[in-house]
Amino acid sequence: MPTQLKYSATPGKNTDIVLIVQAAQPALPEDLSQEEATYVQQQVAQETNIIALNRYTHRLYLVVAPKAKTEQSAHEALRQAGYNLLKLIKADKVRSVEVSDTTGSRAALYLAEGLYLSNYQFQKYKTKDAKPSPLENITIADTAISEEEVQELQHVLEAVTIARDLVNEPHSHQSAEQFSEQLEELGQEAGFKTEVLDEIKIQSLKMGGLLAVNQGSEDPPTFTIMEWKPEQPVNNKPYVLVGKGVVYDTGGLSLKPTPQSMDFMKSDMAGAAAVAGVMYALAKNKLPLHVIGLVPATDNRPGGKAFAPGDVITMHNGMTVEVLNTDAEGRLLLADALSFAQKYHPALVFDLATLTGAAARAVGKEGLVAMGNAGDEIMQALKKTGEQVHERLVEFPLWDEYKKHIESDIADLKNLGGIDAGAISAGKFLECFTSYPWVHFDIAGVAYLHGEDSYRGKLATGAGVRLIYHYLRALAH
Ligand code: BES
Ligand code: ZN
Ligand code: ZN
Repeated sequence: MPTQLKYSATPGKNTDIVLIVQAAQPALPEDLSQEEATYVQQQVAQETNIIALNRYTHRLYLVVAPKAKTEQSAHEALRQAGYNLLKLIKADKVRSVEVSDTTGSRAALYLAEGLYLSNYQFQKYKTKDAKPSPLENITIADTAISEEEVQELQHVLEAVTIARDLVNEPHSHQSAEQFSEQLEELGQEAGFKTEVLDEIKIQSLKMGGLLAVNQGSEDPPTFTIMEWKPEQPVNNKPYVLVGKGVVYDTGGLSLKPTPQSMDFMKSDMAGAAAVAGVMYALAKNKLPLHVIGLVPATDNRPGGKAFAPGDVITMHNGMTVEVLNTDAEGRLLLADALSFAQKYHPALVFDLATLTGAAARAVGKEGLVAMGNAGDEIMQALKKTGEQVHERLVEFPLWDEYKKHIESDIADLKNLGGIDAGAISAGKFLECFTSYPWVHFDIAGVAYLHGEDSYRGKLATGAGVRLIYHYLRALAH
């Protein structure tokens, strides 16, 4: 059962309460006893961040508003406080909390966000020893925040949960076709349209990149088109989101090693999952924007008919590509989706992909790697949104010289760059298939974590959902 986020204009009685207070002059509830008030003052003086009081009829958690240099870092510190608070809440087996704020800011939203995201678990395959979190309900009780805002936040956090669930689902239970079915179900639930193109249709569209990657597979590829078109969108030309949907990446004939490589490649559809999450949040929140999501999906494996290093393939747009490494498969199916996107005459196209280990090596799990040709204004706005939601991005260049990295002796392009600048040569490859403003996000470092990292958790993070949703939201208002 996912966590429920609710709104209440009137603080309840006898429910477990989280109160955000200022360190300098904490505004404490009036009914604290002298001893309690003294204890709280002592704790504040000792710089304790969260002070728990058991008041017998209910628990009271005082969260001291973290000191921070900027508004953005204050918000992030509150999300992190939500993660720390959850540890106490779990130990106390609390089912419902009400979050109120005495600092006169919008702190409750950020604390609740951190609490909610930290409360995520993926336990569907535990037949015993499942440890469900006791926390089921988070109520924001703050008259400075509207019910609509809480509702919107709930939908965005559900979208992150959906993206995490899709990524955590193992390939044994998620072929390309099963993945597409999930996207169709999401569309039904949220209210966006879906169309799933099957193998025959993909063949007739001559999507040579997607088909080549699929050659070694037992399962057919799919190409899912999601569309959110409200009645009066503010944009004439749609925004298009493309997500890499490699449901499992063995590397193909250029086989990956197992430890810390192939063993987590069920996550290679995290870009597609993020796109699906964004579509869900847009539709649920009825944003007045026309947005299309495209997901080319297949697994990549070395079956008898598998494509091989040295092959030349013809892409959806007619260009030829010499395949020199079958593990550089993401760019092949993304390229087909990017040239397909042209038919929508898009205002702007984003693609999200766990594309290169090089991106992960360059910035680790701390940021998304972004590059593109959409211009500085869009890139700056994305960076700003990235700071606000703490999904920060680092821009890499797409200088002309990088084109040399992907020149083939016998075809128009090769799918492999040099030993250096691997994230960029992959981006440069994609650029060859774009003819509109476009930004590529390489989320290889952030999509899936091998250790717990605060409210991002362990395993799938749902990276990209909050960034892209909030960027688009700003365009809608
Ligand atoms: N799916 C991988 C990239 C990846 C690596 C994602 C680590 C998440 C974590 C991608 O398909 C891949 O294998 N890329 C190769 C490209 C290389 C052969 C040019 C890589 O990064 O090694
Ligand atoms: Zn690969
Ligand atoms: Zn891959």
